[in-house]
Amino acid sequence: MAILIDNDKNIFTLHTDNSTYQMQVDKYGFLLHLYYGRKTKGTMDYLLTYADRGFSGNPYDVGPDRTYSMDALPQEFPCQGNGDFRSPAISVRNGDGSYGCDLRYQGYKVHKGKYGIKGLPAVYADETEAETLEILLEDGVTKLQVALLYGVLPGYDVITRSARIINAGEGTVCLEKVQSACLDFVTGNYDIISFYGRHAMERNFQRIPVAHGSFKIGSRRGTSSHQYNPLMILARPDTNEDFGGCYALSFVYSGSFQGEAEMDQYKQTRVLLGLQEELFSYPLKAGEIFYVPETVLTYSSQGLGKLSQNLHRCYRKHLCRGKYKETARPILVNSWEAAYFHFDGKLLYELAATAADLGVEMLVMDDGWFGKRNDDNSSLGDWVVNEEKIGEPLKDFIEKINQLGMKFGIWFEPECVNEDSDFFRAHPDWALHMPGRKPILGRNQLILDFTRKEVVDAVFNQVCGVLDQGNIEYIKWDMNRSMTDMYSAAAEQQGRIAYDYMIGLYDFLERLMARYPNLLIEGCSGGGGRFDAGMLYYTPQIWCSDNTDALDRIRIQYGTSFGYPAGAVGSHVSVSPNEQTGRSASLETRGIVAMAGVFGYEMSFVKLSEREKDIVREQIRKYRTYAPLVQNGLYYRLSNPFEDELAAWEFVSEDGTEVLASAVMLEIHGNMTASYVRLKGLVSGTCYQEQESGRIYDADALMEVGLPLPLQCGEYQSYQYYFKQVRQ
Ligand code: GLA
Repeated sequence: MAILIDNDKNIFTLHTDNSTYQMQVDKYGFLLHLYYGRKTKGTMDYLLTYADRGFSGNPYDVGPDRTYSMDALPQEFPCQGNGDFRSPAISVRNGDGSYGCDLRYQGYKVHKGKYGIKGLPAVYADETEAETLEILLEDGVTKLQVALLYGVLPGYDVITRSARIINAGEGTVCLEKVQSACLDFVTGNYDIISFYGRHAMERNFQRIPVAHGSFKIGSRRGTSSHQYNPLMILARPDTNEDFGGCYALSFVYSGSFQGEAEMDQYKQTRVLLGLQEELFSYPLKAGEIFYVPETVLTYSSQGLGKLSQNLHRCYRKHLCRGKYKETARPILVNSWEAAYFHFDGKLLYELAATAADLGVEMLVMDDGWFGKRNDDNSSLGDWVVNEEKIGEPLKDFIEKINQLGMKFGIWFEPECVNEDSDFFRAHPDWALHMPGRKPILGRNQLILDFTRKEVVDAVFNQVCGVLDQGNIEYIKWDMNRSMTDMYSAAAEQQGRIAYDYMIGLYDFLERLMARYPNLLIEGCSGGGGRFDAGMLYYTPQIWCSDNTDALDRIRIQYGTSFGYPAGAVGSHVSVSPNEQTGRSASLETRGIVAMAGVFGYEMSFVKLSEREKDIVREQIRKYRTYAPLVQNGLYYRLSNPFEDELAAWEFVSEDGTEVLASAVMLEIHGNMTASYVRLKGLVSGTCYQEQESGRIYDADALMEVGLPLPLQCGEYQSYQYYFKQVRQ
């Protein structure tokens, strides 16, 4: 039993294999948080302390007991207006204009299996792998109800949180702030780890102590964004990759969000993750329900490495869906960096023919195939094949590609529109814009009003019209600007646009998956601007960054690995010098870095020498062997590329029999000291044979001291070692 309920003490305990989460309904009906951390037995209500606190309000019904204040007690879903002056999980503007809210316990339900969320992505699990606890809270005056949802996946050390907010009263209330999860810690020092960045340099790692005041990340951009990822990690100061306690909060949502870590006056820490409160004001009429997007929580007492592995396993097995969930994805060549907009059917065919000869499995025709699109100023919205450019109907072209033994994939940016398009000229009011104002442009394009079903339907029909023309097995779903002008002519209340837009987007993706169950969808937003758990529910892989420079990618992929499995990371070999940075790296190094994700190429092969073509053939041969390990193995970070002179990472099969370790030297100096790569996760007491040299190593020595890398001259030398466990 993952969920235990002590009806005498009103204590709810959630157990995973290695963690425990506990809460209690106290005598006043408040749902207090007691404990989250390593697995424990018993009840932890002794952790609560009470004292007469100056300037911390007392609920009226506690009478003269001045030691009781919501301002100091740890809570599950703190609300604005009940005497807690910390950051709340929910803030409500009532019909009379007041901001009061006082949520008290009403009851609970438990059921087997994991809850789902209407219209939103969520972790799924059946009755054998998960249980759900639902705790109902209610405001006695307005009858606003909050059903807190807890999904427990014991085998994954994962607890999910979500909520349904129900207006069970009369009249409309307005939700002014809604967070998905709150974690209150009554004591302890913590570091907060977050992932910041920018276009083409996403998910840099930052670790700072939680201090008095509030540390906040978030996005107001309508997408989860390049700038901050919706993932927060709270770690004890002495926690590192392999040791120590840490918590992850990962938001399963792809739009504007916020995350906050606040240390209060009593040195207690509150962490919140949920919807961005700016530009959010959601009206809820009598009888209506608001579905709160989910947050995935996991705890590790064995450092950050295990924490990431918990998320990876959960997302691989219980978030990603579809045919390609766990099977090898096609090795693709994408036309973007090979040709940008400057292609025709002949050039693409030649690219595909060369690629097929090298062993590549799929051609992806990126931006530029539709309308009059020969640069990025026109035609988004006109999803009509430019047959003049392709030289023939799409169907015939795809057949030719298929005859080469290659699959065919295509790029779309369904959410956006150029003013210079027939679609916009026909429906100018379908783009988000504010009355009387000129809209803000981004890449010279506007965003379509996906809060409106007729807009989603119109684009959906166009996309299907293309997909139905031939054997299209993959699409890259792009989104190339931040959202502004959040005004919809169709909405009564503009504060709901950011959320309703996401519901429209998810609805589109869901319908697409239902109609084309074998289609592989790769997410993208100018690279990794929407790299989040929400998208993984629809797109099992996401183009990780528009930056294909192997050295920058090492850092971007390192940051990404904290929250997302390698099988989610679209990762391609491009030309050298790199077109984003001008930096040169060998084809071998570019290949090894790209093999840390879903492998492919993003270049024209025409200029490659025969020797280089052989290297590509070899890379493809190797990746086919490694792909199951990369996609489904346990991922270990072996170094920190932000600090160390080498970058190293490793995949180990779940049964420990296969290991792939990769390393890239980041620095080179005269008379170098030797660098050793220490392996992790091998089966102690056994031996492993390195497949290229045939040499047999003792697992414990590999984990204790590691392998010395050859002392080689030249920048960014790279190494890959593939081991199989052997019986000695
Ligand atoms: C975005 C993507 C690129 C490419 C271009 C096409 O920037 O991230 O990979 O598809 O759009 O315009």
